[in-house]
Amino acid sequence: MAEFYSLRVNGVDREVVDAQLGESLLFVLRERLGLLGTKGACEQGECGSCSVLVDGELVCACLVLAAAQSGRDIVSIEGIAPAGVSTDVQQAFVDAGAVQCGFCTPGLVMAAHSLLERIVDPTDTEIREELSGNICRCTGYGRLVEAVANVAKTRIALGGNRG
Ligand code: FES
Ligand code: FES
Repeated sequence: MAEFYSLRVNGVDREVVDAQLGESLLFVLRERLGLLGTKGACEQGECGSCSVLVDGELVCACLVLAAAQSGRDIVSIEGIAPAGVSTDVQQAFVDAGAVQCGFCTPGLVMAAHSLLERIVDPTDTEIREELSGNICRCTGYGRLVEAVANVAKTRIALGGNRG
């Protein structure tokens, strides 16, 4: 039976119509709400390409039911910054050459933002551990780690506190 519910995505209440209750948040974001920035690959919680924030927690959108997220605050890659504006993490990825094919990039950007919210000045080991749920087949991870470390250093230099 088709269902109707609403989701709060990137600060906006969105109506989801003609949905099935078993649909994942990944499917609904992409196929029903047209938010194509969140990528789907494994759809088994293994690759991290579908990472979004739900009530501030990083989750694999392929693993959670969309209808169950009603009333929660969902942030996808489209909502991480105003349209046309790059976050410091996104700019650092570009500057470090950490974007190649780009398929993994939205999920990694979400993961990096989540990491830097929790650990202000992560070590390289912490960055590697925190991003280990995000698979990138292109970069070899060195440039990704460099990008995240650069953001942390810059934020601290601009007045952030060491975590
Ligand atoms: S598509 Fe969700 S973790 Fe791979
Ligand atoms: S840049 Fe291609 S998979 Fe990461």
